[in-house]
Formats: sequence, C-alpha cells, structure tokens
Amino acid sequence: LSTESQSILSAYEWLAKLYHHLLRHTKDGKEGYTYLKERGLHDDTIDTFQLGFAPNITDFTTEFLEKKGFHQQLMVKAGLLSQKDDNSVSDRFSGRVIFPIRNHLGKTIAFNGRAINGQGPKYLHSAESELFRKGKTLFNFDLAKKHIRKENEAVLFEGSMDVISAYQAGVKNGIATLGTSLTDSQAKLLKRYVDTVILCYDGDRAGMDATYKAAQLLQNVGAYVKIARLSEDMDPDSFIRQYGGEAFIDQVIKPSTTFMGFYMRYVKKDFNLSLEGDRIKYVETVLRQVAVIDSPVEREYYLKELSNEYNISMDTLTEEIHQYRQKSG
Ligand code: CTP
Ligand code: MN
Ligand code: MN
Ligand code: MN
Ligand code: MN
Repeated sequence: LSTESQSILSAYEWLAKLYHHLLRHTKDGKEGYTYLKERGLHDDTIDTFQLGFAPNITDFTTEFLEKKGFHQQLMVKAGLLSQKDDNSVSDRFSGRVIFPIRNHLGKTIAFNGRAINGQGPKYLHSAESELFRKGKTLFNFDLAKKHIRKENEAVLFEGSMDVISAYQAGVKNGIATLGTSLTDSQAKLLKRYVDTVILCYDGDRAGMDATYKAAQLLQNVGAYVKIARLSEDMDPDSFIRQYGGEAFIDQVIKPSTTFMGFYMRYVKKDFNLSLEGDRIKYVETVLRQVAVIDSPVEREYYLKELSNEYNISMDTLTEEIHQYRQKSG
C-alpha cells in the first residue's frame, strides 16, 4: 500500500470513530441519532455499522484533519473534503448521517452520507479513489461474508438502509451496491462465495428494471438467481418498518421466486392484456425466455402455467418453443 493510501485509510478510521462518537454521545450529533432512532434502528445496530453524524459546524472536519496533520490536498483526493472552483476547501459531508463503507478486510474506504433536512442530494458518496471503486465494492460484504458462505445464499439490496434494517431483522447475509447498477466484477466477486443470490430491490419500476439487469448479469456468471417480491410502494426497509422483521423473512425472503416467475410479471407492463393481439405477443415473449431454460422439467412447469392462464394447448406451446430452441441453436 502506498503511503498516500495508508494516510487515507487512517483519516477514514479517525473520522468514522469521531462521527460515530458524536452521534452516539454528543449534542452535536443528536439530530443524526434522533433521525436513525426514528427510522427504527437500535443502538447495537448503530454501533455494528459505526453509523455517525458529520456536524453542521463550518470547517469542522477540515480543521480536525488539519490538526491531525493530514495533507489537505490528499484529503480532497480521498473524497473527504470538497474543493470549490476558487480552490477553497471545505467539509463535504456536514449535516449528513454517515454510513461508513468498508472493504472486504473491514477497513473503511469511503462514506455514504444521507441528508436529513432535504438539502442537496439525498445521498452523497465519497469520490472514487485508488482505494474506493464503486463498481468493485459491495456494502457490508466484510460482515456478510461468513453468513453468505454458511447459508450459500446472499441477499442483494438496493440501498445501505435496506441492508442495515434487514441485518437488524436477522438477515445477515445482505449486501448492496453503492447507488449504481450491479457490475460484472461485483457479480463475479459474489459468485466466488455463493451459488444463489436473492435479489431484493425496491418494488417500484426502477427497482424492477434494476432487478432484470442484475439477474441477467448474475446468471451470466453462473449464479442461480431468486427474486424477492415487494409491492410497488415498498422497499425492504420500509416493509420491515411497517410489518416487522419476521414478516419480512416469512413473506418476502422465503417465498422468493425463480427468475421466470419474476419475468412473467415484469414484461406484462409492455402489453395490454385485455387485447387479444397483445395477449398473443405476451405469450410469445415469455416463451422466448422459457426456451432458453436448460431444465426440461422447469420448461414444462412454465408452459403449463401459460397453458392454463391463456388457454392455449400444451401441444401448441411445445411446438412454438421448439422453433425458438432450434433458432437459438
Ligand atoms: N442513491 C444515491 N443518490 C441519490 C439517491 C440514491 O446515491 N440521490 C443511492 C443510495 O446508495 C441509495 C440507493 O441509491 O441507498 C437506492 O436509492 P433509494 O431507493 O432512493 O434510497 P433508499 O436506500 O431507499 O434510501 P432511504 O430509505 O434513506 O430514502
Ligand atoms: Mn460507542
Ligand atoms: Mn429505489
Ligand atoms: Mn429504496
Ligand atoms: Mn428506503
């Protein structure tokens, strides 16, 4: 590790500790603490994730880092301080609740800061650096790793709050990307540890689109994908807040469906199923996807489902799927 990187790691460690201490034990961090309490987090969860608060005091962090002897330009590069056009340097995360992002060794390499009074973007991440690449990092991977191995299953969420809420509810094999789509290298990293990945994204349209893309990526690296279902207006964290952790496990995680189960719902948006022509196109679209399933048993299962729902004979469906399979070789 270069001396610069060591210095950056050390700055993150100091600040993570400081922000956490301020949130847990001081007046300057009280609004952050109250915020997390109102979102249902317990003290031990706040401690496990070392959640903190960057106080709303002008130059607080800039001065702290300076006093500790950190080189200011390096701290800008580390994504801890901001530099404006006139070259003046100031705090980057002030007034935000801090979610430390750790690498697989448990070292803090970045922050994700959440605004709590509607100022600026909802979430702000540290800038990327030699130590922090968003597309190669998974939130909570260091803590989740051993649970992922033990259960041979990982649960992939959209946001860090989802991971933390689920963790508190007993789902400890949860991880999340950092506000970006799942990348190929994250998918490969996961596949090294686990065969099955449960996708548990938000129930809205954006979450479903992201689910579709992540599922393709994961299947391409040979992972088995299951999909957890949430209603349109829910994300995992809000579900847990409303119905509790036990309901989350019993009604969302355990009944996760196969990718096809999800796909049949997902592509319905492109069709008006009250029109005969659209119904036919819908069935054809689903059939194309069924055609690429390797297992004959699984193929037959979905054909039966289509046959029943759309009143088309199994013979016809089988014939059509045969054509698709021949075409795709
Ligand atoms: N995100 C981001 N910048 C934003 C909004 C979102 O980087 N302005 C990222 C964050 O990492 C966030 C994830 O995208 O966790 C998912 O976004 P969203 O579902 O909107 O946020 P939640 O995780 O549900 O956050 P919260 O519950 O705190 O509102
Ligand atoms: Mn403490
Ligand atoms: Mn979302
Ligand atoms: Mn969300
Ligand atoms: Mn949320």
